Amino acid sequence: MSRWTGRWPTDGIAFGADYNPEQWPEEVWPDDVALMQEAGVTLVSLGIFSWGELEPEEGRFEFGWLDRILDLLHEAGIGVDLATPSAAPPVWLHLAHPEMLPVDADGQRFTHGSRESWCVSSPVIRHHATRIARVIAERYGHHPAVKMWHVSNELACHNGRCYCDVSAAAFRDWLGKQYTDIEALNLAWGTAFWGQRYASFEQILPPRRTTTIPNPGQRLAFERFSSDAFVDHLEAEAAVLREVTPHLPVTTNYMVMGDFHQIDYTQTTPLLDIVSNDHYLGAEDPRRFAELAFSADRVRGLAGGKPWLLMEHSTSAVNWQPRNLAKQPGEMVRNALQHVARGADGVLFFQWRQSRAGAEKYHSGMVPHAGRDSELFRDVVGLGATLGRLAEVRGSTVEKARVALLWDVPSWWASELEAHPSVDVRYLDVARDLHGALFDAGVAVDVLPATSDLAGYDVVLVPTLYLAPPGVAARLAEVVARGGQVVVTYFSGIVDEHDRVLLGGYPGAFRDLLGVRVEEFAPLAAGGSVSLSDGSTGTVWTERFTADDAEVLASYDDGPSAGRPALTRRSVPGGGAAWYLSTRLDAPSMATLVAKVLTAADVTPLVPRPGGLEIVRRVGESGSWLFAINHTDGDLPLLAEGTDLVTGAPHGLGASVPAGSVVVLRGA
Ligand code: GAL
Repeated sequence: MSRWTGRWPTDGIAFGADYNPEQWPEEVWPDDVALMQEAGVTLVSLGIFSWGELEPEEGRFEFGWLDRILDLLHEAGIGVDLATPSAAPPVWLHLAHPEMLPVDADGQRFTHGSRESWCVSSPVIRHHATRIARVIAERYGHHPAVKMWHVSNELACHNGRCYCDVSAAAFRDWLGKQYTDIEALNLAWGTAFWGQRYASFEQILPPRRTTTIPNPGQRLAFERFSSDAFVDHLEAEAAVLREVTPHLPVTTNYMVMGDFHQIDYTQTTPLLDIVSNDHYLGAEDPRRFAELAFSADRVRGLAGGKPWLLMEHSTSAVNWQPRNLAKQPGEMVRNALQHVARGADGVLFFQWRQSRAGAEKYHSGMVPHAGRDSELFRDVVGLGATLGRLAEVRGSTVEKARVALLWDVPSWWASELEAHPSVDVRYLDVARDLHGALFDAGVAVDVLPATSDLAGYDVVLVPTLYLAPPGVAARLAEVVARGGQVVVTYFSGIVDEHDRVLLGGYPGAFRDLLGVRVEEFAPLAAGGSVSLSDGSTGTVWTERFTADDAEVLASYDDGPSAGRPALTRRSVPGGGAAWYLSTRLDAPSMATLVAKVLTAADVTPLVPRPGGLEIVRRVGESGSWLFAINHTDGDLPLLAEGTDLVTGAPHGLGASVPAGSVVVLRGA
């Protein structure tokens, strides 16, 4: 159990980066520290990939360099988020235990030579990762520079699923705990189909490559098992750190971004003191700032609304996308302050000094190859100064929204399994559409795990909740009963926890809530679209359904479900309603629908925003702060007043936020 006092690791908003001094000759370090001071750096993550440097041979440690850099940082007043180094085991460990290397679904074992090259079920990595965590905790846990622990790095990023024999045995153990007996498993997985019946747990394998479609129950169970295995790994490392240093907070850096969904993070939040996330933009996505907002809102939901830490993002280009576009002028600052606006109490980068060699040498850093005399470093210094002026914001929280959007990793896993009605149903699509429509409308939304309490929300949006968690229908019904608006979209509430269809008409979990009964899915051909009677355009999906206990707001004019309902609403006395959307609307149509739902709930933007600033308010004991971010090329008026902490100047009602800039008004 943690005895962490709750004190944030830095006084103001944390600012810094992953710092990898081991990549540089020691003469560079004083310059690093001086530049960090110039930039206002307050926190660096150290030692993430340094196991091979710290323990060059089993049991022989070279601590000197880490001792010296910790002292240097401490003398400069820079705090350290010290990592356990399990993300990059040393070569000698791989050579001694090649069986710890992960195996893919084809049975191919990976070799060492990169990072995260271990099977999460391997007792070898568990033993050595907890051993080195203890060594580090005992040696450095009371060093005054060390402010928090960083467990491993982006758990499951590269080694999320392992199909080796050790994993197979661990999977069978896990299954034995999930199912009372093998008959229960046979029933849950529907093994009567294709005669897959198992006589004992010993016969079961991970879903390795097979001739055609694998068993979906087995696939889903393996996703859960693998996620749980990483939760166990995190727990094992965190337990050592807590035992040795109960005074220090523990975090690990999540990857709530893009398509990553190897871990159900809701299972990990109870193990952490501070929730941290890494976020990288899709450089070619013209709506990347909206995707950033969606990520940050999800992280805040995982953090239970409390402040969280942006552990990594990039100052400019990354190195792992097909085309690694540099950030545009001002974009780094906007990105950083967007995260702060949405609840981050720290913005750190990967990495401090851009590497000279190695796989990531073309990834931007805070100090680029060009060195201190560069536009990028000057921007970094500017950002540090701005964050310094925002210190008072730390500890405040994002004002609770009236709109909630539910997301759920098991639904993500299950909805994208093989052999479904359409490959164009991708879990995140409708969630992003809805979030994007709210973003454009300037309406705040809390993005919550689907198991969350919904009290206080007037609108609850439920995209593609294919595998509805227990009790969610009842919680949504309560929202409707107290006058709220609930919107459920297609391919929600379809299966039970084992991916078995809920019978009697789709969506089994939500039929009563929505007052509809779907008899057949009717997805569209690639690139197809349909017209709805209210002028909307649908894509991807339609359904043949009846609205037995709901009014039809729009029906299909054409397409495979022509003449049938497309959008319905079941209203109850008191103004509450459950809306059902059976197609993927294009962006303008989605904006119209979202506007109607918001009107029904009387939800309006925080402030009127002609031209479309991004606006978020944080509130705390000492006041409130209104963040206004201008993502456009033109100046935009901000209809609020207060002192702008970014410039230090007063901002009058209606004064503009210059193109591409950010204003943070105290008191607004
Ligand atoms: C992250 C990782 C960092 C670095 C970065 C590059 O996924 O945690 O170590 O590789 O990506 O963008």
